Formats: sequence, C-alpha cells, structure tokens
Amino acid sequence: MQFPLPVCLNLVWKRKEVYSMKKHLWIGGQWLEAREHRPLYAPYSGAHLADVAYADAAEVEQALAAAEAARPLMARMPAHERAAILERLAALIRANAERCAELIALEAAKPITTAKLEVERTIATYKFAAEEAKRIHGETIPLDAAPGGEGRIAYTMRQPLGVVAAITPFNFPMNLVAHKVGPAIAAGNTIVLKPAGQTPLTALLLAELLEQAGLPAGALNVVTGSGSLIGDLLVTDARVKAVTFTGSPEVGIAIRSKAGLRRVTLELGSNSALLVDQGVDVDAMIARAVTGAFSFAGQVCISIQRIYVHEALFDTFVQKFVAQTAKLRLGDPLDPATDVSALISARDAERALAWIAEAEQHGAVVAAGNRRDGNVVAPTVLLHAPASTRVACQEAFAPIVLINRIASIEEGISLVNDSRYGLQAGVYTNDLRTAFAAAEALEVGGVMINDIPTFRVDHMPYGGVKESGTGREGVKYAIEELTELKLVSIRK
Ligand code: SIN
Repeated sequence: MQFPLPVCLNLVWKRKEVYSMKKHLWIGGQWLEAREHRPLYAPYSGAHLADVAYADAAEVEQALAAAEAARPLMARMPAHERAAILERLAALIRANAERCAELIALEAAKPITTAKLEVERTIATYKFAAEEAKRIHGETIPLDAAPGGEGRIAYTMRQPLGVVAAITPFNFPMNLVAHKVGPAIAAGNTIVLKPAGQTPLTALLLAELLEQAGLPAGALNVVTGSGSLIGDLLVTDARVKAVTFTGSPEVGIAIRSKAGLRRVTLELGSNSALLVDQGVDVDAMIARAVTGAFSFAGQVCISIQRIYVHEALFDTFVQKFVAQTAKLRLGDPLDPATDVSALISARDAERALAWIAEAEQHGAVVAAGNRRDGNVVAPTVLLHAPASTRVACQEAFAPIVLINRIASIEEGISLVNDSRYGLQAGVYTNDLRTAFAAAEALEVGGVMINDIPTFRVDHMPYGGVKESGTGREGVKYAIEELTELKLVSIRK
C-alpha cells in the first residue's frame, strides 16, 4: 500500500539524524557497536528509521558487569546528588521535548499531540523521582511493646537493592521507562534497561540525556535486541536483584517463574471496564469515555475495553458514543489533527480484525468501525458481545470497545470481576452508596469513581491484581519495591 507521507517527509528533512542511523548499545557510559544490527521501521509509514543494535549474550554480559561495577558508587551517592541528577534530566527532557515527542510518534505511531502529553508526564515522573529521592526514610520501632524488647532503640532504613533489570513496553516508550529508571536512580540502584523492540530510540535518547545530567558511567545501561534472549539473561543473572517488567501476562508469568527469590514487579495487561449507572449525565462524560477507549488506538493497559451501561440509558449512551467516535480523525501520527493512527504492527491489525469477526459470529453487532487501512484500524464499537469472545475476555490492545446492557450496577460489578485481569475500573454514578459499594467490591488495583479507568497521574499507586500483575508503580511505591528494609536495634 502507498502511504501519504507529507508530514513524515518534512520530518526527514528536519531531523536527518533519526533516519538510517546505526544505533549502538549504551554500556558503561559508552556507545558500543554491536556485532549485529536490525532495521527499525515506522509502524504507520513503513519508513526506515534506524538500524538498531541486536545484542548477543556477550554484550548483555558487558552491560551486567558495568551495572555491577557502578553499584557501590550509586549506593554511596548522597540523596541530594541523586535528586539533582534527576532534576537535571527533567530539565533536559523539557529542552528536548519536541524531539522526544517526534521520536515517540515515529517509532510507536503515537499521535503527536498524545506523544507531547507523554513527554510532559515523563518530566513529571522524573521530578517526582527527584523529590522522592530525598524522602527515603524508615521509622522508629518501639521494641518494648513485646516482653523482652526493653532497653533497646530500634529503627528501620531502606537500602538500594543493587542491579535492577528493567524491561519496558512500546506503548509509553518514555514514561514507562521513567517509571522504572526514575525510582531506581532515586533509590541508589543501577540499571540494565531492555526497551521494547519497536521503540528503542527514545530509550537511547534517555541514555544520552542522563549522561549529560551527570549520571555516573555504568549506572544506566541500555541493551536492545531479542526480548527472550536478553530477558532470560537478565532475569536469571545472580547480580540482578530486582526485575521490573511491563508487558503481557504470558511474559510476566514466565519472568516470575524464572526469577527465583529476586524482587519482581509486574505491570501486565487488562480488559478494563467502565460501569455507567442510571441517572448519570451522558453528555458530560461521553467524550471522556471515547478518549478512554481509543486513545493511542486502545494500546494502553487501562484502555476502556468493556462498557456496561444501565438499561435505563443504554440506547442514549450507545447513540452518543457512536456519534462521538465518528468525530475521531485517523491518519499520520505526525499530523497534529490525528486522533488515531497505526497499531504497532501489521500482525496486531490483523488480529484486531479477526477478534471483531469472531465477536460478530457469536452475535455481537458492529455499531462503528471494523475497517482497516494499512496498520490503522478504525475505532470499533461492538454491542452485545458475549463474555466468552476474545474481545471481551482477553486484552485487545486495539481500538475495540464493547458496550453491553446491565439491569443493575451489581450485575455490572460481577461482569467486571468475571475476568482474569484486575487493573483499574471506572464507575459513573450519582449514588454515594453505589460508589462505595463498587469501590469495595471491584477486584482491581484502582477504582475511579465518576471517571474512566484510563486515568493515571504519575505519583499515584498503579498496579493490578490477578493476571494484571504484582507490586505497584507510582514513584514512591516503586522505590519501596526497589529498596530493602533493614532493621537496626541498639541495646542501651
Ligand atoms: C500502561 O499502559 O500500563 C500505562 C498507562 C499510563 O501510564 O497511562
């Protein structure tokens, strides 16, 4: 297929450095030329973006050795210095914000306006990390609360774990890296980062900016290449003390089974749901619901995939939701007018269409979408999709949402909970008792009352239950995952 490329070609001219460059490994504070490189293409235009290093086992070993060597220096570094590095990094990202957003748009096909928001959030995440670096403290423990504990003063402290392996996804190539790198540096750890295969360019830019920010050599190492080879080496290496991963449940479960006694934080998938109670003002929430379903083409872990609407306003809700969806503009991620662009790969676009077809065969009605142009899948609204279909019970990670009728919020809660996942859920209701009951009963890591599940600011605890993961991110909470609590008891 021929892609319209005017915006992209303009960028080729403006930013020649992005194209056809050989991208090296960042190890021990140096760019190391790998033995193998593989081409990276833009998911929307198919343009050749770069040739990216494809690390082998020996090169991963070099990264681990560099991270281990930098460990004592980072562990000794005072909190104010760690904070200052993170503050300088945030300022450097601000100074390079346009370049960062364009890279995200190119490598991930994220619409440029959404990519700019991601850059803003990334800056906020590193600023939170800078602040939290100065607040890592313990508590005093009254040991004399137990017989035999008299005559002692006791306190706890948090110490860095050491080398952290961070494995990150394509959907937020800057901010989900920040959620791992920021807390790890704030806590005085060193890192080996394996970014997603489709989105290495922003992670490599981060390495450049962190060097300028004054991070010591070896404290961050970026290895690109095969997820399974690098992942296995990192997760099973004795020097790695913690693994922090965002990605699919299948890979997360495999990491967990290989990681042994290492700390493991897993942010996995979801088929997040929105409940809409009777009596709510549909006009006031409909644009937000559509954004929650189709932002970044549904490739967000907390994207709205299932909507359960009270029968009293089901027809109105569907009509307004479909009308709002029709306003979304599809196209080039570099065009500021674009709302929805390409999925990350042709395989994902094919899969999305196959899942829609399966739902239709089982009685679902297509109210919008169900079209594909290249890797761009039109936002698709399905009505009455049975719970057993893949669009309902697996993670779509595509612009597909189902809307089903419920007789009561209680019925909706049990449908939301009938899932292998449990990341976040949203509930619109005017009834305070319903709100509290839903908050209590929903089996998820976060409940958003009178909002969509697709809500996250970067200091809040974020993570799931069931197959949505273990542990929490949100800078302060991630620091807890990446530090060891030590008790000190002093006998008087
Ligand atoms: C995710 O997809 O897990 C991250 C969502 C977000 O940070 O907004």
